[in-house]
Amino acid sequence: MTLDFLGTLQRTHKCGELRVEQDGQDVVLMGWVNRRRDHGNLIFLDLRDRTGITQVVSDIEIAGPAHDKAEAARSEYVVAVKGTVRKRGEGLENPNMATGQIEVVVKELLLLNESKTPPFSPSEDAIANEEVRLKYRYLDLRREQMQKNFLLRHNVARAIREYLSNDGFLEIETPFMTRSTPEGARDYLVPSRVHEGEFYALPQSPQIFKQILMISGFDRYFQIARCFRDEDLRADRQPEFTQIDLEMTFPQQEMIFRTVEGFLSAAFKTAGITLPSGPFLQMSYDDAIRRYGIDKPDMRLPAMVELSDDLDAALRETLKIEQKLPILGFIIPKAGGLSGTERKKLLSEVRTGFGETGLDLLDTERLKTSETFAPLAALIAQKLEATPEDLIVVVTPKLGTPEMWNFDRQWIYKRVGALRLQLAQKFADKHGRFTQTGTAEDFKFLWVTDFPMYEWDEEAKTWNAAHHPFTSPHEDDIKSGALFNDKGSVRALAYDIVLNGTELGSGSIRIHRQDVQAEIFRSLGMSDEEAKQRFGFFLEALEYGTPPHGGIALGIDRIVMILAGATSLREVIAFPKTAKAIDLMVDAPSPATEQQMRELHLRIAPRS
Ligand code: AMO
Repeated sequence: MTLDFLGTLQRTHKCGELRVEQDGQDVVLMGWVNRRRDHGNLIFLDLRDRTGITQVVSDIEIAGPAHDKAEAARSEYVVAVKGTVRKRGEGLENPNMATGQIEVVVKELLLLNESKTPPFSPSEDAIANEEVRLKYRYLDLRREQMQKNFLLRHNVARAIREYLSNDGFLEIETPFMTRSTPEGARDYLVPSRVHEGEFYALPQSPQIFKQILMISGFDRYFQIARCFRDEDLRADRQPEFTQIDLEMTFPQQEMIFRTVEGFLSAAFKTAGITLPSGPFLQMSYDDAIRRYGIDKPDMRLPAMVELSDDLDAALRETLKIEQKLPILGFIIPKAGGLSGTERKKLLSEVRTGFGETGLDLLDTERLKTSETFAPLAALIAQKLEATPEDLIVVVTPKLGTPEMWNFDRQWIYKRVGALRLQLAQKFADKHGRFTQTGTAEDFKFLWVTDFPMYEWDEEAKTWNAAHHPFTSPHEDDIKSGALFNDKGSVRALAYDIVLNGTELGSGSIRIHRQDVQAEIFRSLGMSDEEAKQRFGFFLEALEYGTPPHGGIALGIDRIVMILAGATSLREVIAFPKTAKAIDLMVDAPSPATEQQMRELHLRIAPRS
């Protein structure tokens, strides 16, 4: 087939722009053939570009030689159409299309490029096979939903950039080729050709650089920063991702919160969501665990309620419930009214899931049928504020349940919290609890504060920094000596911003005194030698008049994912990696050539 040259032809409109107001006007559109319907003397082409779709009609009587080209055109061909806008006839309008009132009648048509038959049509809404989507990402990205997602992403980033710039923040770039940053994942390393046997690390975050910028007097910094982490991937984790990273000098925690609330409101506004004014809800880490069993509570669901006091010692004994451990209940809204069989199945599933934990479920439906226990069932329903529509779940520790996981005093809350989420998810599809209404009601933000400073690593039998080692402990916990005597109790000036059960961001007030920083490294089991070797430059920088400072970083991918109503980051990252960290389109990672390996002084050791 002979293809046409574009020549001097200029596009006058985009495919989503034309309306009845342009009726009778001559226009030039360019785009892809989304669909083609051939009725012989009349051929309809749906022409698509980023802005939408316009129906183009080639009438053999009017189009002349252009009609042959309309005949030759196929899906995903690139064409230019010169024609006249015509109001569609009565009953032929398409109310589902923005351009549905008009069509463009072809006078000239250029076939600018052809297309092989694509493995899937970009005009489809959903494509089941994600691997095919990722391999042919350029086609996948042509889909309307994907184009919408990236417009949203652009607008979100732009709103945040604007908000922060107006608030006195400077955008400053920090290096990709650097030293290891301790964010808890493995590093991606880049071997040096010039320095044999030495490596740069790609940044897990700009953490140390942004703190150094505060030491340098920049006062307020931000960056839309790419980060790299070699960690186990999940739907909300990619090996490369983007943070809105910021740091400020002389901050109170609340100042950082107000800044984040401000830019999130601006970002949501661009997506058509007006968040309620006023500060977001706040909750301490301890409360979050006790009430939701997790450090990132989904506030769209009711909290857990402690029922321990409602089942006195005698009752516990009769029901064979352990005296020492808490009894926790919660409701799943609108998931009640199960049939006997459904209830039994659910109880048995949950009990199996509890495995060796020693936890059990109280069958409140059965309690209701017993004269002795009916008042208890009623009391529980009342405390949980349950309606007959709701499912009541009460978790009890069986008599003799050991104090498991001694290092984690809160295990029982976490286990029950996990069950709460699991059941909510199970019933969500059925009852639409998590479906989006497109209003601010869909988005429940929460600040979680006062995180513990240290986290016990049971495998390595060591204490790690729960956030990162630059986070300041509460002053009281430094003064009391708890840093060394009772690490489990030390609170950090660290906070998370949580949205609908997803951690959007984390931050902290930092340590600005060299002596405290060195002390924290020691308390993490790092010798002075090791601290000097890994962070010597930073410890030294802290000695030159470091101001109090603090900040936060939010995952922009996660923000956009939630706003787009998507369930995976891959929907909002243009060229993402699979769960195995592979880019299926470019086929990376891939082996290096022998020459590259020689230059980099590397050899692959055989697997032993
Ligand atoms: P943190 O490690 O908690 O903190 O990361 C902050 C936010 O970045 C996002 N995020 C990710 N998103 C996608 N894929 C990943 N693999 C991934 N890992 C993290 C999350 C997370 O909440 N330097 C500190 C911040 C600070 O203290 O200022 C930091 O990076 O949304």
